Amino acid sequence: MDINEGKPEIHAGLEGIYFTESSVCKVDGQQGRLYYRGYPIETLANSSNFTEVAYLLLYGKLPTGQELDAFDAQMREERSLPGEVIAEIGRTAARAHPMDTMRTAISMLSAYDAEAYNDSPDANMRKSIRLISKSASIAATIGRYRSGKLYVAPDASLSHAENFLYMLSGEKPDKVDARILDVMFTVHAEHSSNASTFGVLVAGSTLADLYSSVTAGMAVLKGPLHGGADEAALRMMREIGSADNTERYIDDALAGKKKIMGFGHRVYKTYDPRARIVRSYLESLLSSPYEEQRNLAQIALSAEKLMIDRLGKAKGIWPNIDFFAGPVYVSLGIPAEVFTPIFAAARMAGWCAHMLEYWKSNKLLRPLEYYSGQLDLDYVPVEKR
Ligand SMILES: CC(C)(COP(=O)(O)OP(=O)(O)OC[C@H]1O[C@@H](n2cnc3c(N)ncnc32)[C@H](O)[C@@H]1OP(=O)(O)O)[C@@H](O)C(=O)NCCC(=O)NCCS
Repeated sequence: MDINEGKPEIHAGLEGIYFTESSVCKVDGQQGRLYYRGYPIETLANSSNFTEVAYLLLYGKLPTGQELDAFDAQMREERSLPGEVIAEIGRTAARAHPMDTMRTAISMLSAYDAEAYNDSPDANMRKSIRLISKSASIAATIGRYRSGKLYVAPDASLSHAENFLYMLSGEKPDKVDARILDVMFTVHAEHSSNASTFGVLVAGSTLADLYSSVTAGMAVLKGPLHGGADEAALRMMREIGSADNTERYIDDALAGKKKIMGFGHRVYKTYDPRARIVRSYLESLLSSPYEEQRNLAQIALSAEKLMIDRLGKAKGIWPNIDFFAGPVYVSLGIPAEVFTPIFAAARMAGWCAHMLEYWKSNKLLRPLEYYSGQLDLDYVPVEKR
């Protein structure tokens, strides 16, 4: 029998496959639009803040003033980390990849949560708030330890983004910097069934608990084709060195069939709306008093123009959010190795929102693979092979 007889259509990378319904997020890849729970990302970036957006994602509606105050208070209360988790970050931060340290720290949190294995919707909501709040503290602590400095305890008087910068630098942050970081958290908070959210859902669909599920998401997010792209894009900009060198670098890379990190997207076939928001902060760096920031902004904008000329309209490869994020983080004093942990801390809101929604009508995620190997082979004992 021909093994290929009746071969089904294979959707490599599950491209174009719908596996569930969701009301968390809409990505319109043709028009370049993004909505969280129906609200355009531009409106949320301009008018809301990460804490309110986290509420919106988890509860499916904007909070009243009272609800927001209560949620904000819970988020502030949950910032502290168990001593053992801080110690573990300290033990591994200098030698492990920051995403490995963060994945381990997130996983460890379950051991210090009395509700870890309580899977009631209310307990899962409380755990989600804990995870969103504590993951930012973990990311900041990793950055802190990697720069060889001592742990800084969270400060409940500060906003989510202010507290992150405080735990990272040890200094009370500038309000403008904190606002920019808050927008970065907001635009990274959610993005439909991207690879890491799907990873969370695959784990959770087995009825593994929330900590296990988001730990799976941490593993998926790490790769340079997903969350690791912002750090890789910054590394490339540093390699390019100056805007004059951009054309040669990009053309050599494309001729060598290399991918340019921070460009292209499985769903967006036009400009990523989040990239537009982040780009507006990058433009302001052109007049920064710091040469490194001006230089990075010039390189980013020249690379963007070239890539759009070379691949934008022709192949539908446009800048994504990760391309402009690096120089903006650098301007906030955030080291490159903390970029993906920040992404994880922000995306924790989307992961939890999706998981809570999926569990309402859970179905084990288990796709098929088409077997193209041989069958009924004769087993030859090892001594005769
Ligand atoms: C995001 C990404 C993984 C989407 O991948 P995908 O939908 O599976 O598409 P593919 O990787 O198969 O790419 C399709 C084509 O576009 C090209 N392409 C895609 N992204 C590219 C990039 N960043 N630079 C150069 N070429 C790119 C591929 O080489 C491929 O060309 P081919 O058809 O001639 O072989 C891909 O665009 C990528 O690797 N981008 C860089 C990493 C990145 O920025 N990730 C963050 C996403 S938010």
